Amino acid sequence: MPATVVKFPATDLRMSAENVLRGNDNGGYTVPSRATYPHQWNWDSALAALGWAELDPSRAWRELETLAGARDRQGMIPHIAFHTRVPDRLNGRLRGALTTVARTYARYLPGPRWWGRRLAYDGRRISGITQPPVAATCMRILFEGHPDEARARALLTPLLGWHRFLLEERDPRGTGEPVLIHPWESGRDNAVEWDAPLWRVLPEVTVVHRRDTHSVDAAERPSDEHYRRFLTLVRRGTRVDWAQSRLARGGAFRVLDPGFSAILARACADLGWLAEELGEGRIAEESRAASARVADALRARADSDGLIRAVDMTDETTLEVTSAGSALALLAPGLGSEHMEAVRDLVTTGVLASPYGVRSLDREHPERSARNYWRGPVWSNVTWLCALALEDHGDRVAAAKMRFRMMEAIEGGGMREYFVPDSGRGLG
Ligand code: SER
Repeated sequence: MPATVVKFPATDLRMSAENVLRGNDNGGYTVPSRATYPHQWNWDSALAALGWAELDPSRAWRELETLAGARDRQGMIPHIAFHTRVPDRLNGRLRGALTTVARTYARYLPGPRWWGRRLAYDGRRISGITQPPVAATCMRILFEGHPDEARARALLTPLLGWHRFLLEERDPRGTGEPVLIHPWESGRDNAVEWDAPLWRVLPEVTVVHRRDTHSVDAAERPSDEHYRRFLTLVRRGTRVDWAQSRLARGGAFRVLDPGFSAILARACADLGWLAEELGEGRIAEESRAASARVADALRARADSDGLIRAVDMTDETTLEVTSAGSALALLAPGLGSEHMEAVRDLVTTGVLASPYGVRSLDREHPERSARNYWRGPVWSNVTWLCALALEDHGDRVAAAKMRFRMMEAIEGGGMREYFVPDSGRGLG
């Protein structure tokens, strides 16, 4: 523990988690951060539902319902659903406050105009890409603690539609895994493995007016060179009206991410479990088969060290980086003991181990950086998902160790997005 950090007792910790959730509650959904992310983000929101489950289960169901309401015409649940209206309670009064609120929502780059006129099922403006599909897993956990058959049943079809989209539109070559068309889809925006495929994208957007670095130190965020390419990919996608299978087949950036694929494999299994509980045999059968197909595809491409790595689909080469993506791969059900042992060693004592959880990048990688977003820091969402995976594969001791480390980070570093892997200092 660094000398400057104060350890909170568990009750204070619970209270401060509750304060974050309530402070970031936008009514039907939770914003990840008022300053940096003032809209609904896909995987952040699904994980926030698990926090709400502790305080107010009905609000937790509502979180998943608003997330499902963000789906597009093809069934994809996007990475962002934008808040484009002024909250009703402020209408008609407090003119000054209205302006401040409007400015807050305009603060995020790339805002709704960058994505074309894309509308969600519920009428909100949305982005054209997706994010790791953890929602069905979160729904299963919520259902196990607070079963609500009617609300769960209503979510089955939207989640099935999203999984189908990933396995059909996004798998034009039938590899069994979805192709990601933007680094943001992995949830691990500037992970080092994306550098090589991303640097092949010639930046068309050259002037970038960053908003994120007003609220977070630039040293803790992706570089301007990353942003030029991130925004170029958005502009190109919008230009072809987000023709998803075309982008998956021939877009400038195309990768397979073992983390995303494994999250999908687990999500399909969890949706299958829920469907079975609710007597929806056909959805159960389809989801179980989908889960097995993704897990088989992942298993088939394990490296000799037992780990699964990312693939650049433009030339089908393996991206030789050991990162959180390889740790998350363990979420796929049914991976063998060899794979399980390789990941357990990786995160408990190996190059991704830290006293505060799972590192985002190999601690020996020349590009590692203690503070820079997905290029070194420990993230609690990843550590928590790794604990879940270890438990699924029967290692309760390693799972408990991961949870303990995650709590050490939060107790010492605060309710933060990510942490310095050697000191536990909070970042972001
Ligand atoms: N995580 C990305 C951002 O920082 C994109 O969703 O904006």
